[in-house]
Amino acid sequence: MKSIVALILSLAAGAVLAAPFPNGNAQAGKKLFDDNKCNSCHIDKVGGNGSAIFTRPNRIVHNPQQLVERLRVCGEAAGIALTPQDEQNLGAYLNQYYKFK
Ligand code: HEC
Repeated sequence: MKSIVALILSLAAGAVLAAPFPNGNAQAGKKLFDDNKCNSCHIDKVGGNGSAIFTRPNRIVHNPQQLVERLRVCGEAAGIALTPQDEQNLGAYLNQYYKFK
């Protein structure tokens, strides 16, 4: 009985940590991001290493759905076709900035 409770608790905790991109691998997302020089345009826009685009006060992404939509737009701009798994991975990686729960 105790172990069942522990299992349920750990599953719940895992779900909270992984949300909202439960199947995403942040490391794979980072690699995709770096390999495709995703920040090259963002640097032109916000300077620095480009990451400020994700935390600027007037940022355009406010929820996970908008993030995925933006990934599609930018993926196209970067000339790459993102698979659903790529979107999950990039979402998991970029959620370090957005902190969606
Ligand atoms: C051709 C230029 C270009 C490339 C390449 C590009 N982006 Fe973007 N990206 C932009 C611009 C411009 C904006 C800001 C749009 C705005 O402010 O309306 C943006 C915004 C974003 C945002 C939303 C930031 C916010 O305001 O919350 C995300 C997320 C993003 N890009 C992800 C990516 C990813 C991931 C890649 C690589 C697959 C990528 N971008 C490649 C031009 C680009």
